[in-house]
Amino acid sequence: MSGSGSISRRHIFKASAGAAVLVGTGTAGASAAPAASAASPAVARPPRDPETERRVRALLAKMTVEEKFGQLQQLTWHADTGPGDGQNKECAELAAKGLLGSVLNLTGAKKCNDLQRAAVERSRLAIPLLFGQDVIHGYLTTFPIPLAQGSSFDPEVVASDAETSAREAASQGIHWTFAPMADVSREPRWGRVAEGSGEDPYLTAQLTAAKVRGYQGADYGATDRLAACAKHFVGYGFPEGGRDYNTADVSERRLRDVCLPPFKAAVDAGVATVMASFNTVNGVPAHANRHTLHDILHEEFGFDGFVVGDYTGVQELIAHGIAADGADAARLALGAGVDMEMVSTTYAQHGKRLLAAGKISRERLDDAVARVLRVKFRAGLFAHPYADEAAEITEPSAAARSAARTAAARSMVLLRNEKKTLPLSAKAGSLAVVGPLGDDTKELHGTWASIGAALFPAVSVLEGIKQAAPSATVRFARGCAVEGDDTGSFDEAVAAARAADAVVVVVGEKAAQSGEAAARSDITLPGVQAQLVAEVAATGTPVAVVVLSGRPLVLTGIADEADAILQAWHPGIEGGHAVADVLFGKVNPGGKLPATFPRSAGQLPLYYAHENTGRPFDPENKYTSKYLDIPHTPLYPFGHGLSYTTFTVSGLKLSAEVLRAKSVADGGATVRATVQVENTGASAGDEVVQLYLRDKVASVVQPVRRLVGFSRVHLKPGERRRVGFTLGRQELGFHTNDLRGEFLVEPGEFEIYAGNSSDAALKAGFTLT
Ligand code: BGC
Repeated sequence: MSGSGSISRRHIFKASAGAAVLVGTGTAGASAAPAASAASPAVARPPRDPETERRVRALLAKMTVEEKFGQLQQLTWHADTGPGDGQNKECAELAAKGLLGSVLNLTGAKKCNDLQRAAVERSRLAIPLLFGQDVIHGYLTTFPIPLAQGSSFDPEVVASDAETSAREAASQGIHWTFAPMADVSREPRWGRVAEGSGEDPYLTAQLTAAKVRGYQGADYGATDRLAACAKHFVGYGFPEGGRDYNTADVSERRLRDVCLPPFKAAVDAGVATVMASFNTVNGVPAHANRHTLHDILHEEFGFDGFVVGDYTGVQELIAHGIAADGADAARLALGAGVDMEMVSTTYAQHGKRLLAAGKISRERLDDAVARVLRVKFRAGLFAHPYADEAAEITEPSAAARSAARTAAARSMVLLRNEKKTLPLSAKAGSLAVVGPLGDDTKELHGTWASIGAALFPAVSVLEGIKQAAPSATVRFARGCAVEGDDTGSFDEAVAAARAADAVVVVVGEKAAQSGEAAARSDITLPGVQAQLVAEVAATGTPVAVVVLSGRPLVLTGIADEADAILQAWHPGIEGGHAVADVLFGKVNPGGKLPATFPRSAGQLPLYYAHENTGRPFDPENKYTSKYLDIPHTPLYPFGHGLSYTTFTVSGLKLSAEVLRAKSVADGGATVRATVQVENTGASAGDEVVQLYLRDKVASVVQPVRRLVGFSRVHLKPGERRRVGFTLGRQELGFHTNDLRGEFLVEPGEFEIYAGNSSDAALKAGFTLT
C-alpha cells in the first residue's frame, strides 16, 4: 500500500490548543491565499465551467476503457530528455486509434499539426493531443537559467521569460511546458539547483507564481500562452549527498514549511498541471505517495488540474522496491494520484485488468481522465487543435532579445568589488579577456536550454566587451580549458593580463555540468581555472572575475585573489552583452544571492534559515557547533550582492508592538513593517530590501531567521523611499510534524530584521499574546 494512504483528511478549526492558536490544517502558501479560520475552510477549489464539465462528462460516457487509459498516456517523440529510444512510431499509431493523450519533445508547427491530424481526423472521438515540452528558460530566445532569475529577486524578470517563451513555443505547436521548477534546494552539489530559484521557500514561491502567471496569462487557452507544470512534487531538491534522483527524507514540517509553499503558490496562481518527482519522500516514492498527491495536493490545496508522472517514473516504482511489477506500479501510481504516465506504459498495459479485478476504481479512472480532458478544454485544444503554421515564430525577435538581456543583467550578483575595480571604464586603452569561457557562445545558454541554444549562438563575453568598449584594444587568451589539467597556455594569458589596463577572467562550468543527472561532489571551479585566476591576479593588473555557472560554486581562494567577482550564472543568449552592461556600469548590478555560497563542500548543507543548536558557535568554547579546519560561516550569505553605489536601510518601524495571536491566526490582524532605504552613493542603482523574521520561542524549533518579504527598488543618488511589508498568519505561523498539516500561530516574542542580505542587523520586535 502507498505509505500513509490511510490518513484521512480533515480540517480542524479550533480556537486554541493549549497556548497555541491552532489555525487549521494545510500548508500556508507564500502567496496571498485567504487565511483559514474557524469560519473559512482552507480548500478553495476554483470554480469549474459548467459547459466544460458537460462536455467532459459527455466524452467520458462515450469512451471505452482503452480510450480512457489512452488519455492517461504520454509518449516521447525522440528520447530527447530521458533514457531509451523515441516512441515516434507508437505516437503516430496510437494517436490515430485515440489511444494517446499527450506527446512530449515534438517541435515545429507543421510536425505537431501532422501528428495532431491523426488524433483529430482519424480517431473515433477526435480528442486532440496535448503537446508538452521542457520550455524551462526560453524557447528560441534563451533567458538566464532559473537560478539566475532567482538572483534578480524580481518577479517581472521571471514573467518576461515566461511570456516570451510561451509566445515562441506556442507558435510552434506546443501547448504545455514542464516548468516552473518549484523545488527549493539547499544542495548545490545537485545539478538541478540550476533549474530552481534557490534555497528559500518564500522567494521560490513568489517567483514560481510569477512564472505560472507569465506562461498562462489570464487564460492558457490563448494561442500565445502555455499551460504550466509545477515540478517536481515533492522533496526532489533534498537528495541525500546531492546525487540526482536520490532519497529525500524530510520531516513533515520541513515538507510543509520549506518544500510545499512554492507548489501551493503555483496552485493558487492556477497552475494547470503538476509533475511528480523521481525521489522517495520519507520512504514512499513521490509517484506512489498518496499523502502528498492526494491528501495534500488534491484535498488541502484544492488542485483541479492533472498530475503527470516524470519520465518513466511510474515504472521506476519497481526499482524503488515498492512495486512488484508493472501492474503493481500502475495500481500504486494511479491510486496515489498520478493521472498521466510519461513514457513508461504500465497504465495502458495493465489498467484494464486492474480495473476488472477491482484494484483500480472506476471513479479514480474517470477522475484522472476528466482531469486531463478538463486541461485540454481549458487549453483550447478542442477549439483550435492546430497551430497556425503561417504565424510560426522561427527566430528571436529584437524585443525578445532585449528582454533576455535585461533579465540577464538584472540577474547578476556582484560578490566582491575591492578598490572600485568595477565598473570598468569604457574608455580603457587596453583590456584583456582571459579564460576558457571568454569567447564561448554555447555554454552561456546553460542547462535545459531549448531548441534556441542549438540554433542561435549566445553573444560571448568577449564580443560584449568589444562592443561596449569600441575604442579599447581587447586581447583574448583562453589560458586553459574548462576541464583538464593542462596549464600550457597560462603564459599567454598572463602576458595578455600584464599588457592590459584591466583584465576580465571568464571562468566557470559548462552547461552540462549542471542540470539533470549532473551532480558534482567537488563544486570548486573545474580543472585548473582557479590556478589561472591566481596566476593572472599575481600580475598586479586589476582583475575582475566573471563566474558563469549553474550552481553556487566554492570560490574560496579566488575570493581573496580577485579584485572583483561578478556571478553571472549561465546568462543566456544575450549573456555577453549583459555581462558587459554590468562590467562597464551601463547597468548597476542589483542581484542578490538566492542561495548560500559555502567555503567548502564539506559544510553542506549550508543555508541561512537553519535552526540553532543547543550549543551555538562560541569561539571561546570548544564544545560548540563548528568545524576544526574552517569557519562555520558561508563565504557569501544568502541575499548578498553589492552595487556600484551605496545604500543604507534604516528606520525600521512596526505598526504594533503587541497583537493577539488569535486575531492573527484568524487571518484578521497583521503587523506592518516599514523601513527606509536610501541611495547614499553617486550613481543610480537597485537595492533589494529584505525582511527576515525570527520566532524566538516556539513549540517546534524555528529557523534563526527566515525571509518574509523583499522588494527591489530603483533609487537615484540621494533618493530615499519607505518600503512596507505586511506580516500576517502565513508569515507568523508554522507547521508541526502532524501529518494532517497542523498550523500554529503561537503567542510569544518575534524579532524582525531588515537590511540588504540575510546578515541584516537592523532589528525591531513585537509580541503575540
Ligand atoms: C525530468 C523532468 C522533465 C522530463 C521531460 C525528466 O527527466 O526530470 O524535469 O520535464 O524529463 O523531459
